[in-house]
Amino acid sequence: MHKIDKILIGTHNKGKFKEISSLLPNKVEKVSPIDLGIESPEESGKTFLQNSELKANFFCNKSKLITLSDDSGLEIDCLNGQPGIFSSRWAKQFGSFDNAMIEILNKIKTLNKGTAAQFVCSLTIQWPDGKKISEIGKIKGNISSKKGNNGFGYDPIFVPNGHSRTFAEMDYKEKLLIDHRYIAYKKLEEKIKVYF
Ligand code: IMP
Repeated sequence: MHKIDKILIGTHNKGKFKEISSLLPNKVEKVSPIDLGIESPEESGKTFLQNSELKANFFCNKSKLITLSDDSGLEIDCLNGQPGIFSSRWAKQFGSFDNAMIEILNKIKTLNKGTAAQFVCSLTIQWPDGKKISEIGKIKGNISSKKGNNGFGYDPIFVPNGHSRTFAEMDYKEKLLIDHRYIAYKKLEEKIKVYF
């Protein structure tokens, strides 16, 4: 069995790269597709799982390195799970994350059907021989008014259950050890720790 000493973290998102790097063992060398000049694939999947598999497969084939990819997003109950897999595309569509968050807050206020939401993350690790393992992590919470300056994406409007502050009000380490990526990684770690 070959030990994993180097992993490509298949994302161009700096916030995700930092979080996933922190979850992996220190001794593992982490490589970004940006360093290798590899573009992102089109996210044509219909689920988080399909998209994380598609990204892991794409980056692994391009780099020939063991690759860990994530697909994640925010599902809001009263919006029938939107933006979901379109979370980053909503930010593009509305011009920025700030605009997308304002749009979400307005929609929720108008609908007046509650603020329940969840962040979802699918993580897929793929080896160059085609072997792959995926796990999903979810964290439930509520949408709140925009607060805090830490984190990335929709962090300023999400308060996880059992907490009173948004992800963006928490310090980096606090969010890292409770969020959807952490939950997915802990499940995956059970299956891949023998390779470290
Ligand atoms: P994708 O997985 O690259 O399609 O992007 C998912 C998008 O979901 C990100 O760009 C963020 O907008 C959002 N997202 C995923 N995870 C988080 C998180 O932990 N905090 C805030 N936003 C997130």
